[in-house]
Amino acid sequence: MKTYLAPMAGYTDRAFRDLCRAEGAHVPFTEMVNARQLLAVPEKAKELLQIEGEPSPVAVQLFGHDPETLSRAAEVLQGWDVDHIDLNCGCPARKVVKNGAGVALLKDLPRLRRIVRLMRATITEAVFSIKIRAGWDLDSLVYREAGRIAQEEGADLIFFHARTRSQGFSGKAWWPWIKELKENLSIPVVGNGDIRSWEEAWERKEASGCDGIMIGRGSIGRPRLFREIMIRETLPLTRDEVMERLFLQYRAKAEWIGERKAVLQMRKVAPFSVRGFPDAKEIRMALNKAGSLREAREVLGL
Ligand SMILES: Cc1cc2nc3c(=O)[nH]c(=O)nc-3n(C[C@H](O)[C@H](O)[C@H](O)COP(=O)(O)O)c2cc1C
Repeated sequence: MKTYLAPMAGYTDRAFRDLCRAEGAHVPFTEMVNARQLLAVPEKAKELLQIEGEPSPVAVQLFGHDPETLSRAAEVLQGWDVDHIDLNCGCPARKVVKNGAGVALLKDLPRLRRIVRLMRATITEAVFSIKIRAGWDLDSLVYREAGRIAQEEGADLIFFHARTRSQGFSGKAWWPWIKELKENLSIPVVGNGDIRSWEEAWERKEASGCDGIMIGRGSIGRPRLFREIMIRETLPLTRDEVMERLFLQYRAKAEWIGERKAVLQMRKVAPFSVRGFPDAKEIRMALNKAGSLREAREVLGL
């Protein structure tokens, strides 16, 4: 089964993508990048995406609302040898939606069509997809129409996070929507939402008939989930193994953004890895005080 690491702002940086790749994730996505900002300061965007020298497939997600801007940004990404370009049609964040981007595109389907058409015309050397939610709210479910637009305008596949905008991240992703979309489209449909274990991954895939699955939160602190899905087996890690992997993430991050910033950013990420340990709270608190790689390493007992 093909597995995708979901774009997650603040989490899916290069260090994390490399970890997921090493655990067998087939396509690890960057977080979303603003198409307008990418065009304004391309080198800065490239630095933020951390795609320099990244092994293929390199997968980048764009957000925006203007067809021309998005298409020109896609052209830049192609010039950087990006292998897969996705259009964000699902982000519910107010600052994104108020500019007509993210899930707001599902409220303006003629615009979505224009965007997909123009991006498709530009993207000749990379895979092109869109990532949607089910709609704005339960009274305006538009995944069928959005899926049809993607297919008619030549997108290669569609990612479907089976929640509405107003659900945010609450409640449950409703996989029967994914099944229905799959049954109604000929392009591949990749299901997304709430997958936390290899068993769930296979159950959801088999019940929905989807062509692959995308995993977000379930992989944070547990990139190994991708391998478990591949071999259909739980692979517990010893405490030492968890700590060693965590420290690798510290080091890899530091190579991209410097030691100080890496140690600060890891304060948000590390708790996911040590979750469940009897002393998780103490570790978390000690990591919050660590200001260098050396100090973090000591806390991890390495
Ligand atoms: C912290 C965080 C950041 C996210 N950032 C993005 C993003 O940049 N682009 C996007 O399309 N979705 C984003 N998402 C949504 C995820 O890609 C995914 O669709 C959602 O979390 C559901 O999948 P999951 O249940 O496997 O996490 C984000 C989610 C989280 C939790």
